This record gives sequence, structure tokens and C-alpha cells, in this order.
Amino acid sequence: MKKRIGILTSGGDCPGLNCVIRAAVSHATRTYDWEVVGIPYSTQGLLEGKTVPLSIHGWDLRGIDPLLNMGGTVLGSINKGDTLGSANEILAGYEAIGLDALIAVGGDGSLNIIHQLAVLGNWNLVAIPKTIDHDVALTERSIGFDTAVNTVVDAINRLTFTAASHDRVMIIEVMGRTAGHLALYSGIAGGADVILLPEVPYTIQGLCNHLTELRERWQRKFAIVVVAEGIFPCSKDIDDADNCTTAKCGKGQYIAEQIANCSNHLIDTRVSVLGHIQRGGIPSALDRLTATMFGKVAVDLIAQEKYDQMLAWQNGRVVNFPIQDVIDKNPSLVNPHGDLVQTARSLGIYVGE
Ligand code: F6P
Repeated sequence: MKKRIGILTSGGDCPGLNCVIRAAVSHATRTYDWEVVGIPYSTQGLLEGKTVPLSIHGWDLRGIDPLLNMGGTVLGSINKGDTLGSANEILAGYEAIGLDALIAVGGDGSLNIIHQLAVLGNWNLVAIPKTIDHDVALTERSIGFDTAVNTVVDAINRLTFTAASHDRVMIIEVMGRTAGHLALYSGIAGGADVILLPEVPYTIQGLCNHLTELRERWQRKFAIVVVAEGIFPCSKDIDDADNCTTAKCGKGQYIAEQIANCSNHLIDTRVSVLGHIQRGGIPSALDRLTATMFGKVAVDLIAQEKYDQMLAWQNGRVVNFPIQDVIDKNPSLVNPHGDLVQTARSLGIYVGE
């Protein structure tokens, strides 16, 4: 039976979303001869009963398919608003669109919301994980993370040379909300001297001792300090009552001030908040590959009528889990005793504790 399937992208955007759309449309059209429609702006599009036709002939004049290397999402996305408060309108919009199944590409928060809607509306849902935070459980890869790591490493490389030229301590604030994966991966790969994570308590004294040791023992007059936006200023130093975890809280600036204080303003610091640069850019080869495989397998699951599943990458292949099992384990955080943290410490990086 010819199916009509929908695809939407939800939550914060990231590079690789268009690759999923491309793969799903291509496979559904070529292999199964199905109709594929895009839902613009996620649940907002459902609420308004809007669709856009998607076809494999979305090439430019020269025949190039721009979806492969275009950042963001051509369908648009939303990551705010009281979605569940409008559940009835969204369910009615979904009915009006008349889909046999829906592919939702989202992160921790948005997959939870869309799963709840799918249960209420009895939708045939297949979910695909994307997030630069890498905090979706049960998957070793999430679309967008690899590109974001490369973006941060590139920024660290650039900052290292200017830091060294001026004997400065560069503080680089990295996204990730409550998870420190992006900071940890990029800090190790970029050669940071300090990596502060939400999952590992640190002390200002420990941080300052480390910077002193770098200068006095190793004659390193500059330093690279990667700060995850979700760090908690150590409970011994400050009581972070509002529990904030995003860039709005200025954790990088806070760390710079602490370093200035503990060095009697002798250490010259500069802060770079990388912000939404980390969500932009063209997708890395690894993200393209992951997205392409997720898009293809999502369509195959629909062909098998296997629903309420989230795709995941485990041991080199795409597998699937009931969405609720993933939600129950979210968010996936850095293991403070895991191999990456141990490796960072063995390289002389201060990671707290
Ligand atoms: O969850 C992805 C993320 O990019 C976080 O790392 C960051 O804190 C947040 O989204 C930023 O959200 P917004 O785009 O609403 O500023």
C-alpha cells in the first residue's frame, strides 16, 4: 500500500538535519514509491495543519543536491512554547494532514513532547536523535554533535595562537546545557589545559593551582580553559541557587573573574562565548553519514510498521529502542569516572575534583 509519511525537525537546530530529510525522502521515494511531506516548524506546523511536498528533485540548476551540505533545517524548527498546552489543536492538525507515519528528528526535550503527543493521538512515530549536547540516552551518536565538536576544536586552535602570543588565559564557554560532552570531547581534542564540566565538581583553588603550576613548573605562560555552560560554580565557592545551565548565566565570565581574583589580577584573561556558532556550519562527514543511515533506517522501520521507536547508533550500526526507554534514561551525562575524564587527567588537564 502506498504510504504518505511526514517528517519534522524539532528543538534546537544543528548541522546534519537536512541530510536526514534527504535520505528519508530519497529512500521512501525510490525504494517504496511513497509520498513524503515536510511539516514546517515542528508542532507549530502540525497545529496549523501545514505541509510542504518533498521530492528527490530538490536540486539546484546544476543538478547539485544542496541538502547534503547545508546547515540548519530547511523545514524550520522550534524549541520553545507550551506545546502540550495546545495538544488538542496539534492532534486535530495531525488528523487533518492525514499521515500514515511520522519521522521526528529531535533532542532530549522535543522527543519527549512529541512522544507524549504521539501516545495521545495514536500516531505511528519513529524518532531520530539529534543534538549538539549529545545527551540523548542509549545512542553513541546524535546528529550534529560531531560537527559541533569540530567547530569548537577549530575555535580552540585559533585562540591558542593568540593566547600564546600575549601570555593570556583564554576562557572558552561551550554549549551543552546540563551535559559536558561537547566541552570534554572538544577540550581533549583541542589541547585544553582545563576543562570544567557540570558533572565534575571543581574548586577555584584547584583551578588556580593548576594555572600556577603550568606557569611555574612547565613555563607555560598561556592557558586554554574550556568551560561548559552548565557548570555549577562549586558549592564551596558559591551557592548557585537558580540552578541555571545555559549561556545566559555567563559561566565563562564568572570563571574569568575568579581567575583574576585568585591571581591578584596578574593573569590576563579573555572570554569567548562560542554560542550559536556551535550550531552552525556545514555538517561533518561523520554527521552526514549518521544522518543518512538514520534517515534510511527510519523509512525501513515504517515499512515494517514498527513504531514508537527511536533510532540509535550502537557498536557501528543503527539499532532501535522504544522511545519511552530512551526518555526514562535521559539526559545522558558525562561519567565523572569514565575513560575520557581519566584520559584528560592523565594528560595533565585539570577536570576538577
Ligand atoms: O540544546 C541545544 C542547545 O544548543 C544548548 O546547548 C543551548 O544551551 C541551547 O540549545 C540554546 O538554546 P536557544 O537556541 O534557545 O538559545
